[in-house]
Amino acid sequence: MSHVLSAVAWPYANGPRHLGHVAGFGVPSDVFSRYMRMAGHEVLMVSGSDEHGTPILVQAEKAGMSPQEFIDQNHAMIAEDLVGLGVSYDLYTRTTTANHEQVVQQLFLANHANGYMVEQTQQVAISPSTGRTLPDRYIEGTCPICGYADARGDQCDNCGNQLDPVDLKEPRSKINGETPEFKDTEHFFLDLPSLSEALGEWLDGREASGLWRPNVIKFSKNILEEIRPRAMTRDIDWGITIPLPGWAENEHKKLYVWFDAVVGYLSAAVEWARRLPEGEGGRDDSERWKEWWVEGATPEQLSYYFMGKDNITFHSQIWPAELLGHNGEGAKGGQPGPFGVLNLPTEVVSSEFLTMEGKQFSTSRSIVIYVRDVLERYQPDALRYFLSAAAPETADSDFNWPEFVKRTNTELVAGWGNLVNRTASMIAKNFGEIPAAGEFEDVDRALLDQIAEGFTTVGQLIATHKQKAALAEAMRLVGEANAYVSTTEPFKLKGEDQRERLGTVLHVLAQAVVDLNTILSPYLPHSSTAVHQALGGEGVFQPMPRLEQVSDLDDAAKPDYPIITGDYSDAPRWGHRPVVVGAPVAKPSPIFTKLDPSVVDEERGRLGLGEEQV
Ligand code: MF3
Ligand code: ZN
Repeated sequence: MSHVLSAVAWPYANGPRHLGHVAGFGVPSDVFSRYMRMAGHEVLMVSGSDEHGTPILVQAEKAGMSPQEFIDQNHAMIAEDLVGLGVSYDLYTRTTTANHEQVVQQLFLANHANGYMVEQTQQVAISPSTGRTLPDRYIEGTCPICGYADARGDQCDNCGNQLDPVDLKEPRSKINGETPEFKDTEHFFLDLPSLSEALGEWLDGREASGLWRPNVIKFSKNILEEIRPRAMTRDIDWGITIPLPGWAENEHKKLYVWFDAVVGYLSAAVEWARRLPEGEGGRDDSERWKEWWVEGATPEQLSYYFMGKDNITFHSQIWPAELLGHNGEGAKGGQPGPFGVLNLPTEVVSSEFLTMEGKQFSTSRSIVIYVRDVLERYQPDALRYFLSAAAPETADSDFNWPEFVKRTNTELVAGWGNLVNRTASMIAKNFGEIPAAGEFEDVDRALLDQIAEGFTTVGQLIATHKQKAALAEAMRLVGEANAYVSTTEPFKLKGEDQRERLGTVLHVLAQAVVDLNTILSPYLPHSSTAVHQALGGEGVFQPMPRLEQVSDLDDAAKPDYPIITGDYSDAPRWGHRPVVVGAPVAKPSPIFTKLDPSVVDEERGRLGLGEEQV
């Protein structure tokens, strides 16, 4: 048993989630976390809305709202999207809580005290026409590293390197095209060069584990070559106060949004623990976050970070560097900060991109499909199934309506749903309860043995983030069970002398369905309860997350906000569970909804795609 931190990327509170977001971080992190709980680990799954930074400011202004109104609205919307999808966070919070602010400031101060946060003069871009500071990502130009013509002032999307606006060749303002002017300004820089050796050692160790996806480790080692100090403060008035005299008073300088966002993994764990009810006998559980975070607090601590590939830099360099600086583990030495010696990531699990209706259209024509729209019209597990089966795990993949309809109908409805349905129907009709088995024949044992092995194979694959292969293996076993029906033909076993054999076959099938339901449940948590009950089970099979309205723990002036939380302690165990002979089985209703082919045109119409383009 290990303590497993599932650290899920924090979505910007700038609008509802689209399918690309949840394919990258949402579904994979949930499948993994559910599986790890089932396998007996202590899982803590945290995330929240990323609410600071320039893009939020700019978009709020565009929407004619104050930043606070804008993030309140979007945070609530995102939380609904994620809860609708069934993502089992222990805590989904936000970065504008007083708790987060305190944790971020302590982390900053620890880095500062250890000498890893140094003051330097930097050139900041000014708009000549307005005299205002131009935010990094609103400047474009040619990447000095790879020559890409449309690099942004903060990052090059072509080579993935982080940039500063002054690095860009031929810089131009994205707002009005003018050439920015640069002036000197003071900022705090994270002294990455003094942390690079420690970062390199950590990455070597991670590479040796053989766990990381090859492209992620390669990218992470690559960016270590270009390492230099990075500004961790910004000329902006929306963000976390720089906790130092002379700086804190300046309303126009704040901590950089990425400095604060990544600390969310720690602050959310702290908030989770602080929100725990008093333990037995008045025990104070408010420091339980340490079980996952503080080296040595528990015997084995593992942490997995889930994100899209555009976030790798911040998770394999900036965040580990902030942790090393806090711990006093860089070339400048130092003392661990107030949190103790904090763990660096075990694995950065990054996925590629999901395009939407991408095969037929040029990339310039961007098409967005929102999670909320899909959830309004289709079953959440149908979406989860598709995003898992066609996951952009190691290569970009595409969501499109024809494929969605096809996979739902052939794999979920005709494959798994049909197996459940005919098993329960035949049992209901012939016995009304799970029948006892007589003597097993080879064909019976062969099926049950294969499925028993599935727990090992599928479990291993999920634990190592090969969820697509894991799902394919689970569905292969579903196919084997359907083939077993064709071989044994229970519907032909009508004679009184065949009744025992009929009972045995249906017993074996019930057992197969029960075990396959366990195996599929990390992917299909909503429908797993219906399957469980169709075969005589009681209660909820996979615990689900819920929304809860809470008050800020430290600042009564802040507005109440929704969090996602849940009690997952009743998660089923990963493994074979014998069916209960005699458990009542009624005529089932279909678990999955078959989609009419007209869905394709209807949905494409909504996207403004004419039929002729199909
Ligand atoms: N908000 C960022 C994005 O959507 C992700 C932040 S992940 C964090 O790309 F951990 F740093 F918060
Ligand atoms: Zn580049």
